[in-house]
Amino acid sequence: MILEIRNLEKKFNNNQVLKNINLNIEEGTVLAVLGKNGSGKTTLIKLLTNILLPCNGDILYKGENIKRLRNKYIEKIGAVLEGNRNVYWYLTGEENIYYFGGLLGLSKNEIKVRGEELLKTFDLYEDRRKKVVHYSRGMQQKLAIIIALLNNPTILFLDEPAIGLDVVSKKIMIDKIKYLSRNLGITIILTTHQLDVVELVADKIVLLENGGIKNSENLKRFMEKYNSELLYKILLDKRIAKFV
Ligand SMILES: Nc1ncnc2c1ncn2[C@@H]1O[C@H](COP(=O)(O)OP(=O)(O)O)[C@@H](O)[C@H]1O
Ligand SMILES: [Mg+2]
Repeated sequence: MILEIRNLEKKFNNNQVLKNINLNIEEGTVLAVLGKNGSGKTTLIKLLTNILLPCNGDILYKGENIKRLRNKYIEKIGAVLEGNRNVYWYLTGEENIYYFGGLLGLSKNEIKVRGEELLKTFDLYEDRRKKVVHYSRGMQQKLAIIIALLNNPTILFLDEPAIGLDVVSKKIMIDKIKYLSRNLGITIILTTHQLDVVELVADKIVLLENGGIKNSENLKRFMEKYNSELLYKILLDKRIAKFV
């Protein structure tokens, strides 16, 4: 297991957001965390990336507690949080890569090699010298992911990676996530409330509800269950005109 989550609990004052979360995440898999707005998805990502501290419970990375690993754990993970302010809009894509690569302590040459490779993987190489303010939402999201991948993380956390993307960009994003998982062996933990995203990329699904995990099962079983429950009945008060 790359991550083991044991009895994780988070409260904000009296608001118990997460309780008794137990979960094992296998290396190289894509885990989708589903749930309504306010169900605690972002909070879970923040706990797993050490941005927030849990009130109770432990997170183990390859068997070691992240409390003990501290920076050694941070160096092994990458994250893109929700929203489109993860990169600087008045810098170009390339300048953002050098800036954040510098913060990670990478040398100029390392940033150049790794940055170019990732820009090509994400089809952003041609646009690397354009200012981010002129990028589409999909391009901004891809740049944020490139930056999160600069230090070769073993786990990539993506909070709502498909939000605000048009159909085509969403498809591209899904393909890139699959590529990172299948070809580079990166473990991916993403949150979403879009079932179509889940269906296309996730190996395993977790549903957050009332602070706990409602469902934790493999993709096939989840889709069978939810597809069978998602039946729409459409009643018409007139006959539909025939197309001639
Ligand atoms: N920093 C915070 N301080 C207080 N309450 C918070 C904080 N972050 C999140 N919450 C609360 O925790 C709950 C879960 O929020 P969040 O994790 O953002 O849900 P989701 O990402 O599933 O929409 C909400 O009730 C939210 O108001
Ligand atoms: Mg959220």
